[in-house]
Order: sequence, then C-alpha cells, then structure tokens
Amino acid sequence: MEKEILISKAAIKERVSELAAQISLDYAGKEPILIGILKGAIFFFADLMREISIPTKMDFMRASSYGSNTHSSGSVHLTKDVELPIQGRPVIIVEDIVDSGLTLAYIKENLEGRGVESLRICALIDKHERREREVPVDYCGFKIEEGFLVGYGLDCNEEYRYLPAIYVLKENS
Ligand code: IMP
Ligand code: MG
Repeated sequence: MEKEILISKAAIKERVSELAAQISLDYAGKEPILIGILKGAIFFFADLMREISIPTKMDFMRASSYGSNTHSSGSVHLTKDVELPIQGRPVIIVEDIVDSGLTLAYIKENLEGRGVESLRICALIDKHERREREVPVDYCGFKIEEGFLVGYGLDCNEEYRYLPAIYVLKENS
C-alpha cells in the first residue's frame, strides 16, 4: 500500500521530549507507574520513559477488540494484565493512538476500579474523527482529524510497525 509521511522522526522526538518534561513537572516528588498498552505504544513508551527526569516504574497491558483491520468493534477484552501492584499509586496510561476511544474507556474504567491514587492518559496521537466514547487525553502528542496511520509502533495488520516515522496510508492503492 502507498503511504505518505505525516510526522517525521525529528518531530516525534521533539514532541516526546516536551511531553516528558511536562510529566516530570506534574509528578515531581512522586513515582508514577507508566502502563504501556501493547503492542502499538512500545516505541513511544520506551522513548518517553527515558526522557522523563523523575523515577517511574513500567508495566504493560494488552487489549484486544474484535473488528476489522481499521475499525475497532467496541467489544474490548484484556489479553495481558499489569503485574505490579497499582492500588494507591499514581498511574499514567501510555497509548499509541485514541480513535473511537472504546479501548481506552474500557482500560480506564478497569484501572479506576482497582483503587489507583490517580489516573491520567498520555497518547501519542489523538484522532478525533471517530470518537464514540469521550476519554480525557491529559497528555497528547499530536491531534489529527482523519486517516489511518502506521509506523513508530502503529500497524496495519501487523505491518509497518518498524518504521521510525509516522505515515498515513493512502486508500485505493
Ligand atoms: P479505539 O478503541 O477505536 O480508540 O482504537 C484504539 C486502537 O486501535 C489503538 O490502540 C490502535 O491499536 C488501533 N488504531 C486506531 N487507529 C489507528 C491507526 O490510525 N493506525 C493504527 N492503529 C490504529
Ligand atoms: Mg493499540
């Protein structure tokens, strides 16, 4: 499939540093647990965590939603859960992209039900076009209106994750 560059490697790096600086300020004196949502958030998570200047801990969750390659269906379930104790801890969810919001809404409610001290969401990309559930994105890398994005961890049917920049897939190609 043809693709066109949307966000360069340098632009990602710069924005990740800005997000990390903001999180470091907001959580000064705390040790938040960063929960990465596998697999798409993997590079964003790794780059962000290294740029945050305060101590943090890492954990991961994986959610699956049945649906086609480019639309989530809304029925979300967890296929991997966190392993660290999170009760009473400040938690930041690190996600690649918010589209309908169904995945994050599910994960957010699930984690809130476990008595975390606080919960914020950090997403590299906020794609507003198809939002069905309002989820607050406290730390947002880039806002885009539409398009299906790949690269920097984002996939289309498990392809393109390895690309170091973010591309938009061209339809009908
Ligand atoms: P949501 O539940 O519709 O918000 O979808 C969230 C998940 O769908 C993300 O975690 C991604 O894995 C995937 N997704 C949504 N939009 C895109 C995209 O443009 N490119 C790649 N994956 C996407
Ligand atoms: Mg994902």
